[in-house]
Amino acid sequence: MDKSIPLIEIKNLSRWYRDNPVKLFEKLSLSLQPNEFFVLTGKSGTGKTTLVKFLTGKLTPPEKTIFYNKQDISTFTPEDIQILRKRLGIIFQDYQLLEDLTVRENIIYPLELYELGETVIESKLKQVLQKVNVKHLLNKPVKLLSSGEKQRVALARALIHDPEFIIADEPTGNLDWENTQVVADILIQANKAGNTIFLITHDIHLLNYLKAKHPVKLHLIK
Ligand SMILES: Nc1ncnc2c1ncn2[C@@H]1O[C@H](COP(=O)(O)OP(=O)(O)OP(=O)(O)O)[C@@H](O)[C@H]1O
Ligand SMILES: [Mg+2]
Repeated sequence: MDKSIPLIEIKNLSRWYRDNPVKLFEKLSLSLQPNEFFVLTGKSGTGKTTLVKFLTGKLTPPEKTIFYNKQDISTFTPEDIQILRKRLGIIFQDYQLLEDLTVRENIIYPLELYELGETVIESKLKQVLQKVNVKHLLNKPVKLLSSGEKQRVALARALIHDPEFIIADEPTGNLDWENTQVVADILIQANKAGNTIFLITHDIHLLNYLKAKHPVKLHLIK
């Protein structure tokens, strides 16, 4: 990948909801380089999760405001979005797990896009279980898990297909401090291994922990 081209560039992006008088971010501009560990922070309600929806193709942004490798995402076809999603590992703030399926089924779900054999799936699952401690939960339906357990399952699901780019929206929101550090270390490791990270958090302890251990680029959304 060409390191001089930003992986993502956001130019003058503004957003508000018709039934919400409060404007979210206004003229937001930022750029994220390949292999960067980018941390976006800002008060509740400033539009961080809305931004994730733009970045993952759930909402279409206005023309010429968000570019992936110089390409305007507002021009992407559904197929282009599908290709983009293959490159992404996304941890949603509300997890978006399939509640009736088991932990195992949820974690391997992204691999459905790839037509892989059972052996490859098992070996990828094994690898991710070495990073994220959910092995003891594999056969449980997700609906029976605690919030912190769901958060860890969401992390495992985001990592299983070795995405080049990880978007994590408050991935430690429901974790205790010990597990928060585990998640921080997993993200640092992924970044060291070459993954680009876009982390959203307003957890000041997590921020300080990251800054002390690893170079991160911080952006405050206002
Ligand atoms: N579909 C929608 N329709 C109307 N208003 C919405 C919609 N989605 C979000 N909002 C409003 O937009 C604002 C920003 O929401 P968003 O979830 O992006 O904030 P956030 O920065 O992620 O907050 P938090 O830090 O609490 O997760 C909130 O006031 C929210 O109520
Ligand atoms: Mg949010």
